[in-house]
Amino acid sequence: MRTPRTDFPEMYALFFRLVFRRMDPEQAHHLAVGWIRLAARIPVLRTFLAAALAPRYKELRTEALGLRMHGPFGLAAGFDKNAVAIDGLSMLGFDHVEIGTVTGEPQPGNPKKRLFRLVADRALINRMGFNNDGSLAVAARLASRTPVFRTVVGVNIGKTKVVSEEEAVADYVKSAERLAPHADYLVVNVSSPNTPGLRDLQATEALRPLLTAVREAADRVVPARRVPLLVKIAPDLADEDVDAVADLAVELGLDGIIATNTTIAREGLGLRSAPALVKETGGLSGAPLKERSLQVLRRLYARVGDRVTLIGVGGIETAEDAWQRILAGATLVQGYSAFIYQGPFWARAVHKGLAARLRTSPYATLADAVGADVRNKHA
Ligand SMILES: Cc1cc2nc3c(=O)[nH]c(=O)nc-3n(C[C@H](O)[C@H](O)[C@H](O)COP(=O)(O)O)c2cc1C
Repeated sequence: MRTPRTDFPEMYALFFRLVFRRMDPEQAHHLAVGWIRLAARIPVLRTFLAAALAPRYKELRTEALGLRMHGPFGLAAGFDKNAVAIDGLSMLGFDHVEIGTVTGEPQPGNPKKRLFRLVADRALINRMGFNNDGSLAVAARLASRTPVFRTVVGVNIGKTKVVSEEEAVADYVKSAERLAPHADYLVVNVSSPNTPGLRDLQATEALRPLLTAVREAADRVVPARRVPLLVKIAPDLADEDVDAVADLAVELGLDGIIATNTTIAREGLGLRSAPALVKETGGLSGAPLKERSLQVLRRLYARVGDRVTLIGVGGIETAEDAWQRILAGATLVQGYSAFIYQGPFWARAVHKGLAARLRTSPYATLADAVGADVRNKHA
């Protein structure tokens, strides 16, 4: 007989079908964020929800980027672009929350509709275009925040659309100066497909001066601590370009690489979801991204080993997916799309499954498991 607890995810699935699926995806997103914020403001409710949805597992405690976390599993950038729901997301069990992408100046993003659900493929296509309140407003919001839960907050920064490529470095530096004081870690996003020219910044000739300038800016405004600096890359990079970014990260002493952002590829799609949807311009995320993101991660780990912290993201749906990323070299893992489809019980399921997986594995700690697959292959 089933315990009632296992029915909660099914209840969410039903709710998703009856409510969210009938709504425009972006409206559903705003509604969900509103509910998460509201729940986190009501002390009795948030205590209850945190106890139910964010149980802590001692064996999953993670140290990465010089930061202590309850576990390795976080919410990827893009869900909370403006840092309005950090406590609520922590209440739902995410061990770290990456806010943003925040750009130097506020901007509305691309015209709507710009977010599409490919339900049958457990995927999303988005061309949001960095809609956000801008670095000044988000910095002020972070500065005035009184955290209820202890969670790690990553800040992901990107280029303002109207800023020219020549001025790109200055735009990132502006964001870094404003946001680094409030960031547990800082991410330079050069991989979203929805800002023209952004992904060209992944080329090492462009990336080297950009990362150097952001590093200097962070050190200048936060002299008391070294704010960990990471770069987030696209799954569409050729393998040699992945290697080049890995080598650059080692050369510059970068703290981490996040692999990967969404893809512009559409491989393996079109059989289940409507062809018109598949043709929408933008970045594809979710299940179809799983394989390529894992490949990129493996390649990075084979190249950088333990010298650079890797964060695995792209198509993670289950604890098993998260575990595979850890074995492939990820110290931390993140997700976004599966949160839409699995709802508030998702992080809980991933934690529970990860803890069980670790217990039955040959590894004493999560840290021992990081990269084990790649190391064994090369042993
Ligand atoms: C609607 C949406 C908006 C996103 N916005 C951002 C963003 O602003 N910055 C960023 O670095 N990644 C953004 N992403 C990419 C995610 O952070 C993540 O890298 C990608 O979706 C792959 O993970 P997933 O398959 O678990 O969704 C966005 C993804 C989605 C679905």
